[in-house]
Amino acid sequence: MEINNQSIMQAMEIKIDSVPEKTPDFIQGIRRAPKRELTLNEADIELALMNALRYIPEAYHAELAPEFYNELMTHGRIYGYRFRPEGNISPKAIDQYEATTIEGKAFQVMIDNNLSFEIALYPYELVTYGETGQVFQNWMQYVLVNKYLQVMNNKQTLVIQSGHPVGLFHSHESAPRVMITNGLTVGLFDNLEDFKRLTALGVANYGQMTAGGWMYIGPQGIVHGTYSTLLNASRKIKEGAKDMEGLLFVTSGLGGMSGAQGKAGKIAGGVALVAEVDESRINTRFEQGWVDVVTRSAKEAFDVAIKAKDNKEALAIAYLGNVVDLLEYASDNNIHIDLLSDQTSCHEPYDGGYCPVQLSFEERTNLLASDNAKFKSLVNESLVRHFEAIKALVAKGTYFFDYGNSFMKAVYDAGVIEISKNGVNELDGFIWPSYVEDILGPMLFDYGYGPFRWICLSGKDTDLDATDQAAMDIIDPNRRFQDYDNWKWIKDAKKNALVVGTKARILYQDAWGRTNIALKFNEMVRNGEIGPVMLGRDHHDVSGTDSPFRETSNIKDGSNVMAEMATHCYAGNAARGMSLIALHNGGGVGIGKSINGGFGMVLDGSSRVDEILYEAMLWDVMGGVARRNWARNDASIETCMAYNEQMKGQDHITLPYLATRDFVQEIIKNNK
Ligand SMILES: NC(=O)c1ccc[n+]([C@@H]2O[C@H](COP(=O)([O-])OP(=O)(O)OC[C@H]3O[C@@H](n4cnc5c(N)ncnc54)[C@H](O)[C@@H]3O)[C@@H](O)[C@H]2O)c1
Repeated sequence: MEINNQSIMQAMEIKIDSVPEKTPDFIQGIRRAPKRELTLNEADIELALMNALRYIPEAYHAELAPEFYNELMTHGRIYGYRFRPEGNISPKAIDQYEATTIEGKAFQVMIDNNLSFEIALYPYELVTYGETGQVFQNWMQYVLVNKYLQVMNNKQTLVIQSGHPVGLFHSHESAPRVMITNGLTVGLFDNLEDFKRLTALGVANYGQMTAGGWMYIGPQGIVHGTYSTLLNASRKIKEGAKDMEGLLFVTSGLGGMSGAQGKAGKIAGGVALVAEVDESRINTRFEQGWVDVVTRSAKEAFDVAIKAKDNKEALAIAYLGNVVDLLEYASDNNIHIDLLSDQTSCHEPYDGGYCPVQLSFEERTNLLASDNAKFKSLVNESLVRHFEAIKALVAKGTYFFDYGNSFMKAVYDAGVIEISKNGVNELDGFIWPSYVEDILGPMLFDYGYGPFRWICLSGKDTDLDATDQAAMDIIDPNRRFQDYDNWKWIKDAKKNALVVGTKARILYQDAWGRTNIALKFNEMVRNGEIGPVMLGRDHHDVSGTDSPFRETSNIKDGSNVMAEMATHCYAGNAARGMSLIALHNGGGVGIGKSINGGFGMVLDGSSRVDEILYEAMLWDVMGGVARRNWARNDASIETCMAYNEQMKGQDHITLPYLATRDFVQEIIKNNK
């Protein structure tokens, strides 16, 4: 067979066969990604161009090759802007999409939501959140995936690797319709330097979690986790506290996920003061009503905060400026901060995620484009100052916790060995707790509580109201304080105006809670009470994520660096027929630091879906609780004992016999 571009074109039915006449205009005021560091040599640059041209019919190569070359040199990546649809890409109601299957339509809704101006951090660069979390590597992939989703039938599975649609393969009705992986590399190359080369070559995508897993629901997704974290942190530092009333929480970041902090603090009943260097992010949150007060003055910020705290008022304040300046002001002026954290994108401090205190936001963007080495040294200096300010505040009684953004790792990498627990290296972790280690892990994940979510694909508010009510009816608020918190969350969800983008809801639930709610929703779809629903979760959860600096930071049997739980979660969900399964490298904390997986499940009201829900929802959570139980985590052992009893004859989890450290120390001493 002759291989040339003509015969290749004829051998494909699903393909890009034409090219838009011009690149769509970039709308002023829409945030753009900074230039990504380009480490490619000449041969690699050639390879990157050849790679991008694989999507393009030969007739257009001469026209597009210079454009792609220019993009690579200007932006550090080939995004294929030419293929981006003009204007905003907004999620529409599911019945307005073309596709053979309901899943094919539903995923188009999810993708468009992830890329919309309202939701995406850098919509033109396909970044949904977390500085570098992309839905696809380039717009050619977007175009092609949409084409595949439109023609896919209910006995086919679409395989996607780092945004690239490998193809459609026949499967069966209860198989996943879409399998996604992002950025998985062979161990030797599982580091940021190699990953930068791979992304610039156009062979790897950093999908974060729900960006490349098509399950982002805007900042609401993280508001609930932040609300639970703040409630429980308050209970930790204040005896008898029911919520955050009368407490001051200081932090930074009003971006994709960090943007939840002001709102969550307010819902938890306290005062949240958030530093943010990018004015456009503050404006977004202010227009949404997620922050109440904006100021450029550290003095004014604390004056307002302390007044509200003293009056036991709930308030969200944005400080337009660098968090290091804010903390140094607090330390110098002896201002007491109750709860302190940070949510700059420290998983990517040198690629724009962390703005050094010596630079304004604009200067940071310019320096990133012109001098990476200088930028890096300023970031390091700033992180050292940041650390010193926190240390001084902690010494005066502030409770600091790492918020899953690799902040302490970044400080360590900046040369502050003192932040490591053993004073030598990072192997034993860091001196301050991570919020999962201290709060979310033992109080939520170990029981199976995690960020269950759903999207009403009809786009109707009435569907969201009906599902909120149904979910609330299923929760028993009197069982545990966690159930009460979740019940209160869903009761007030509408009032708290959390929706940005699709009509979505997040609700922390355990294995049975998620299963029962899912089955109830599917019944409501069947009865015509609501339209189809997409179920999913964040990957910041019990089972889907192996991440020693975050999700698995409270696993203390040495297995916190293993990545088998996430892999099994993904494979198990595939075997049980979730509509979409996704597995990524690095989500949330950075390349090489985690493996995380998520799912999407389309509720069409069928009994087929009932069966999948019963099998997969319990597995999706209990697989992780089982592993946590084996790590001797108390709440997980308790949960697994109850599960074994409840599921007798069907499921069975191995429980650990316990031996105390004193006991083994004694044995070792006596047998030396
Ligand atoms: N809280 C959670 O539960 C959770 C979950 C997942 C991930 N994370 C992590 O939190 C981090 C933030 O996520 P995101 O989606 O909000 O990212 P983002 O990049 O959208 O937002 C971070 C914000 O921090 C601001 N910023 C950077 N340096 C600053 C400085 N020195 N002072 C003040 N503001 C500064 C940036 O301008 C940006 O708006 C990421 O590392 C992410 O992985 C947190």
